[in-house]
Amino acid sequence: MPKRFYVSTPIYYVNDVPHIGHAYTTLACDVLARYKRACGLEVFFLTGTDEHGQKVEKAAQAGGETPLELADRVVKRFQALWDKLDISNTDFIRTTQERHKKGVSELFKIIEAKGDIYLGEYEDWYCTPCETFWTETQLLDGCCPDCGRPTDRLKEESFFFRMSKYQDALVKHIEEHPDFIQPKSRRNEILNFIKEGLRDLSISRTTFSWGIPVPSKEGHVLYVWFDALTNYITALGYPEDQEGHFADFWPGDVHVIGKDILRFHTVYWPTFLMAAGLPLPKRVFAHGWWTVEGQKMSKSLRNVVEPNMLIDKYGVDPIRYFLLREVPFGLDGDFSHSALVHRINSDLANDLGNLVSRSTAMIGKYFKGVLPSPVENADTDEAFIGRFPKALKSVDTQMNDLSFHKALQSIWELIRAANKYIDDTAPWTLAKDPEQAERLGTVMYNLLEAQRLIALLISPFLPGTAQSILSILGAQTGEAPLVSDTAWGGLKPGTVIEKAPPLFPRIETD
Ligand code: ME8
Ligand code: MG
Repeated sequence: MPKRFYVSTPIYYVNDVPHIGHAYTTLACDVLARYKRACGLEVFFLTGTDEHGQKVEKAAQAGGETPLELADRVVKRFQALWDKLDISNTDFIRTTQERHKKGVSELFKIIEAKGDIYLGEYEDWYCTPCETFWTETQLLDGCCPDCGRPTDRLKEESFFFRMSKYQDALVKHIEEHPDFIQPKSRRNEILNFIKEGLRDLSISRTTFSWGIPVPSKEGHVLYVWFDALTNYITALGYPEDQEGHFADFWPGDVHVIGKDILRFHTVYWPTFLMAAGLPLPKRVFAHGWWTVEGQKMSKSLRNVVEPNMLIDKYGVDPIRYFLLREVPFGLDGDFSHSALVHRINSDLANDLGNLVSRSTAMIGKYFKGVLPSPVENADTDEAFIGRFPKALKSVDTQMNDLSFHKALQSIWELIRAANKYIDDTAPWTLAKDPEQAERLGTVMYNLLEAQRLIALLISPFLPGTAQSILSILGAQTGEAPLVSDTAWGGLKPGTVIEKAPPLFPRIETD
């Protein structure tokens, strides 16, 4: 049986249209999913949309539509963007789907039957945009500590989840599982928060109606985070199909999220699961936030970066490359057009594009487009070839750490080494001397074979580019090429090599 891997994105609110921040999270998950598939694992890659709650209800009202009409409209924009960004998700969950609503009410009933949900009264400071209640001491100058906007004093009847009961168990879990919260720097922040004391959590609302009804009492709908977090298991068929997908893929391998929602994923979610007697996800990884040209991205600043426009202008693979190469995954970063153009011109056009076009042009010129046989490797060749198994290992470690920028650096070291191999072996000089014909054939074979391996390594990041290179090389790949096809020597001498069109046109700058 193949090993399995489950990776998820957050489910995105439908009161906003997709921007570069959403694209970033989904892209990171896609790269991980593609990598694991290429390594032979059976992958479940989930994304979706979070469609309930007061914010959606209000946005719909303002636009004169029903919440579901709004959701139906916005969900298409997310799905169209994921198609355009080459996202290979296995499933797409919407919280308005029957399968989800059923699973959420079941989870509520199970926890209620256990005695961990009770009816009480809630009074505190409420931030409507963040849908979060805050205590007096958490407020900053009377405003929401997360978004800085004013809060209202609200009192309502509410169901509570006994989160306080799980404080010690949660601390213990985090301490015993050093990889549960990543990056490491975020772990202490969460531990400190928990150790300050967990309060019971209000998990129902009576002030609006766009939500999943509380099964045991009319007039209450479930708090949006109780609803939303549960998507990670309802998409697997919980609780009905516990034999099938759920048994196969839960506990999930990693929830990839932005740092803004870490607390929900490492405090609320694990305690819900503990109460339901379910295992906790193996890892929650919080990445950083993008600013734009040095500023916070916001509608009011009119600086929201629209991924569709970027893809139309620069192509999908360059955008995929830039987002994961530019900033270490886990840290904040800044998006700027000049940095994007610089990466495209130097790393993609200059390093990778030139490598492929120079080498295929030489095969055309010296061997009429037919791949020669290698004869005997010199020390330079062996040193060059020896880099590949080492790089495969490093990339594997880096991918497992979600250290995408480092994995790309490792791959680009190979690309630069291949360019240097051309300069060192100087095929144009060898071509002038008929006695060096075998040497020339060996060098050219190694050079093209190197590009086959490079194409396999970049394929999770740049799937379209990898396919173009493999087809130029006339290379076939199996289902799990990073396991089956990484031995040196996969290209068959005698294969017809196409002359490559420019893979990445240089972008002119002024
Ligand atoms: O929070 N930089 O949905 P959401 C990087 N529905 N990433 C960013 C970003 C930025 N500037 N802005 C947003 C929700 N993101 C809930 C989640 S999960 C059970 C429920 C990304 O539409 C980042 O991953 O506000 C963040 O966590 C996510 O978008 C929030 O999307
Ligand atoms: Mg948000």
